[in-house]
Amino acid sequence: MPDTPQPLTITGGVHQERRHDSAHKHVSGEAVYVDDMPEPAGLLHVYLGLSAKAHARVRSMDLSEVRAAPGVVAVFTAEDVPGENDVSPMGRHDEPLFATDLVEYAGQPLFAVAATTRDAARRAARLAAVEYEDLPAVLDIAAARPDPQLVFPPMTLKTGDPAAALAQAPRTVSGRLVMGGQEHFYLESHAALAIPAEDDEVLVHSSTQHPSEVQHIVAHVLGVPDGAVAIEVRRMGGGFGGKETQANLFAACAALVAKKTGRAAKIRPDRDDDMVITGKRHDFEVDYSVGFDDEGRILAVDMVYAARCGYSADLSGPVTDRALFHADNGYFYPAARIESLPLKTNTVSNTAFRGFGGPQGMVGAERVVEEIAFALGKDPLEIRKLNLYGPGRDVTPYKQTVEDNILPELIAQLEEESRYWDRRAQVRAFNRENRWLRKGLALTPVKFGISFTATHYNQGSALVHVYTDGSIHLNHGGTEMGQGLHTKVAQVVAEEFQVDIDRVRITATTTAKVPNTSATAASSGTDLNGRAAQNAARTIKDRLIDFAAGHWGVPRDAVLFRAGRVHVGNHAMDFADLVKAAYMARVHLSSTGFHKTPHIHWNRGTGEGRPFFYFAYGAAVSEVTVDTLTGEYRLDRADILHDVGRSLNPAIDRGQVEGGFVQGAGWLTMEELWWDGQGRLRTHAPSTYKIPACGDRPKTFNVRFFDAPNREDNLFRSKAVGEPPFMLGISVLHALSDAVASVADHRVCPRLDAPATPERVLAAIERLRRS
Ligand code: MTE
Ligand code: MOS
Repeated sequence: MPDTPQPLTITGGVHQERRHDSAHKHVSGEAVYVDDMPEPAGLLHVYLGLSAKAHARVRSMDLSEVRAAPGVVAVFTAEDVPGENDVSPMGRHDEPLFATDLVEYAGQPLFAVAATTRDAARRAARLAAVEYEDLPAVLDIAAARPDPQLVFPPMTLKTGDPAAALAQAPRTVSGRLVMGGQEHFYLESHAALAIPAEDDEVLVHSSTQHPSEVQHIVAHVLGVPDGAVAIEVRRMGGGFGGKETQANLFAACAALVAKKTGRAAKIRPDRDDDMVITGKRHDFEVDYSVGFDDEGRILAVDMVYAARCGYSADLSGPVTDRALFHADNGYFYPAARIESLPLKTNTVSNTAFRGFGGPQGMVGAERVVEEIAFALGKDPLEIRKLNLYGPGRDVTPYKQTVEDNILPELIAQLEEESRYWDRRAQVRAFNRENRWLRKGLALTPVKFGISFTATHYNQGSALVHVYTDGSIHLNHGGTEMGQGLHTKVAQVVAEEFQVDIDRVRITATTTAKVPNTSATAASSGTDLNGRAAQNAARTIKDRLIDFAAGHWGVPRDAVLFRAGRVHVGNHAMDFADLVKAAYMARVHLSSTGFHKTPHIHWNRGTGEGRPFFYFAYGAAVSEVTVDTLTGEYRLDRADILHDVGRSLNPAIDRGQVEGGFVQGAGWLTMEELWWDGQGRLRTHAPSTYKIPACGDRPKTFNVRFFDAPNREDNLFRSKAVGEPPFMLGISVLHALSDAVASVADHRVCPRLDAPATPERVLAAIERLRRS
């Protein structure tokens, strides 16, 4: 069956504006998160005791005061773990649940204390007497460089002969770009509630993007088969990648306490502890050399992406790989050597965060473009357009051919709609007339690869039941974190059965209904689970069609589902009536569905393949005003043109684009993580870590969708939208850079690093004024 949509005759079919199914409950407080669930009788509250040192031998650990504290029921250390004391993802066995004789970051869990109240557990956790023997701590990229220890084998992408091309290039520029990490700041911190059951069984309600992995980890820690463990997720209060692997620890801890004590156990670290214990976006340093011609065409690049990974591998391998996959952004490099350096440090293990390394890759590409523009005295937009992929210049450094090449058209449309060149002239005039206030303008594109680069993750499964009253129960492997996945998948099922979306019951994700799922990540939640649910619905629909054709004696193609009704030859009936009749005739009204992404393959060893099913594109123009006396700035306006293919739900997609842009801008401007000389995170609360607030959104915010279907046969010709808009925020960094450059008449590239906090902007202004 082709993916052509039916006429818009049902409520909540695909391509319709439809609010998030829980939107009203999010704002009224009725949406249930783990910590809101009714507490089982005898519930124990769990808190973690943390390492005070970044790198040390643990000489001794005296927990007698912890045990003696009021309300404490039990204390657990690594010795109490019946299975394996490990919560690392991807089976790397390098992240203990509880550290034993060695601690490798300040904040690493050492033990868990279970008490009758959360307050009692929290107070008791501070009473441990731990003796450490300090070891040298490597805290950042600079410190790790001299004797680099890697958490994962690095990757190299190579195309052409970059050394020769650089040597022969008419012009070259080299430099270093530094960009910071980012705290996820999901509104709901990590949380897990474990309920012990018979024999070796346990049920864990976990705030996780990856229930199947949490299931495996809990099973390993408890030393029981996967089948004894069920993980359930109704929703998260945000994940943003921070709950792709980081929930493992909390779920395992709650499950351990539950099985050891026979009582339900809940863990919810407070915000400060959540920020200290869990990994963040990787900060990077990029060393680049670019060779180009007098027009500004890139001839070759050499780029090394060094990342602070923290003490263990976690997802740092795939994250740094994805940085390299996006080191070209939308630009053709005829010759390139691009290398990753995933450095081990004595800091928290960094993890997935919206874009998964892609944003860091692209920020590198955009700096390179900016350098060329300044070297030639041209508008950076001209250099961007000159270097875009196009026919005959369409092979990426990883040898995937870019087939659609829609960026030139998309950028042209945005240039026009945002009146880029008029505003460029206005900005110049403003900057001539104003001594202290300076404006900046920048247009940056996004080309983001959709698919997990670990090919086997690109599968989705679903389970659909139709009940005899015609109501539908929908379950699938994806998790809801606010992105609207459940609404979109329900729209797909409503569309298939041609019933109003209200008939489709959205249910909690659970490993007991849909097994062996992938993380809801890489923006592919809808692509994978939506198709799987569509396939499940089609299986049931096929059975209904067979039944109706036989029962009423018409050909199969005379059975049509339209707008809540089923037409069978000359008869028409309600969907529910057909379902009832089918049930009476013993038709099976439940089905699983499965989907795997076609066409993709990737060989990391050779650095070649087609890792991505398709690309999602977008571009943004940002305009800022900077006070050059203080470095403070405001975001006056942003114009976005983003490609979501044929949108499954424009209301939800708009929310993803707006939120992604603001979160991306926050990363590159105001969010600053700061560790002290002992490796202690000092920005561990909203008092010291500033995320964008309402007032930080652009004063004028124009968001449009690029009007073109996905050329690949993706779900109803839509495109993934979760991560790509995050990288539209790069335009804000470049608008700031443009404003800063004006203080030296655009003679020198400001080389503005990120986050471009007012402090850093001011320093760049002072530097340029002296140049
Ligand atoms: N949107 C909201 N509101 N909350 C989130 O946690 N996570 C982002 C994105 N959008 C997130 C979000 C990330 S990192 C990803 S990978 C995708 O949503 C995951 O969901 P999807 O695959 O269903 O788009
Ligand atoms: Mo998103 S970083 O892939 O969870």
